[in-house]
Amino acid sequence: MATHQLTSLFDQPVAREHSQSLKYDGRTATFGTDDVLPMWVADMDFAVPQAISNALQTRASHPVFGYSLAPESLYQALIEWLQNTHDWQVQREWIVLTPGVVPSLNLVVAALTTEQAGVIVQPPVYFPFFSAVTNQNRRLLENPLRLTNDGDLSYQMDLDQLEECAKDAELLLLCSPHNPVGRVWHKVELHALLAIAEKHDLTILSDEIHADLVYSDAQHTPLSRLSLETESDAAASHRIITAVSPSKTFNIPGLGLSALIIPNQAHRCAIQTHLQHMGVSVTNPFNLAAFEAAYREGGEWRNALIAYLQQTRDEAIAFINQHLPAIRVIQPQATYLLWLDCRQLQLDDAALNRFFIAEAKLGLSPGAMFGRGGQGFMRMNIGTTKANVLAALTRLQAALAKRS
Ligand SMILES: Cc1ncc(COP(=O)(O)O)c(C=O)c1O
Repeated sequence: MATHQLTSLFDQPVAREHSQSLKYDGRTATFGTDDVLPMWVADMDFAVPQAISNALQTRASHPVFGYSLAPESLYQALIEWLQNTHDWQVQREWIVLTPGVVPSLNLVVAALTTEQAGVIVQPPVYFPFFSAVTNQNRRLLENPLRLTNDGDLSYQMDLDQLEECAKDAELLLLCSPHNPVGRVWHKVELHALLAIAEKHDLTILSDEIHADLVYSDAQHTPLSRLSLETESDAAASHRIITAVSPSKTFNIPGLGLSALIIPNQAHRCAIQTHLQHMGVSVTNPFNLAAFEAAYREGGEWRNALIAYLQQTRDEAIAFINQHLPAIRVIQPQATYLLWLDCRQLQLDDAALNRFFIAEAKLGLSPGAMFGRGGQGFMRMNIGTTKANVLAALTRLQAALAKRS
């Protein structure tokens, strides 16, 4: 299918109410009303690629849904995807399938760190990063991102402070690209990070779930590939674990299957043992079918998706800059999440949230959920039709006009 045909596919609204959708059917529980446009939890309103629907339907037509085995062809599809998309050569034995990236964060913290160990997170960050540490009775070490303003707002890692934290830490949870601020970390920053890890014997879990949703103005570098690339960093590869998943990119997060890439054999054994002890069944007939179809056949759809989201991003940012002077937006280099700086409204977090729900009738994720540095911000999910995004921004414009 030609890219323009795929693009117009993303303009088709899909009715998601009454489909057990958390984003739609969970509105009353989350916002106290269902009278909001839902732009919160990170799934998209788009129909999945036809290849995924076909694979699921084919599997559904077999009448037995027993315990399942991941076929070799699934591992090969992932290996080829990582090679073709990220120029990263992953060996088959490095791959451990897991029941989602959030479970993987918890698993890695539990399996590779000791009781009360320091684990570094860089807020504002996807909130399960915090609970993955505290759930396991480890200590949170926060290295807040720095928000710089040289005309445009942008976020940087505080590498000096990171080095201080690393002296007292066993593990760093890296979000790459970073949710919610949309940064794609530059190679220079990642080299510096690797040097700190090497110097202080730090293990890194790099959550790269958003790596396949990078806009044309940025370039994602898998941390593990970078560590294999240069001789000085090569030693670092044994300390990196990468979480990957087709779930965000191909809009199948409800199916719950992801993978950890673990070059270090001792880490791999510890993680596999821990996973076994949890007694969790990772694979099922449907998540296997969708995972393989996504990586094997989803390339063209993904390219069209990124083109569509990039147009949406650019139009949304232009709208905000032109019509919503009280709000500043951080241009994401990746992800379908817009990070809105609402601090000029001078509302505390409860009042800001109320304003969005009750006055603008929008269901966004409050920035405060993402920890330090999130106060006064809101995260807006633009993984929906462009018409929906513009309708949401128009609602916001009208609500702001009423306030002034
Ligand atoms: C950085 C990050 N990691 C993990 C997840 C969720 O992963 P999963 O649904 O596989 O647990 C998300 C979802 O938004 C995310 O943004």
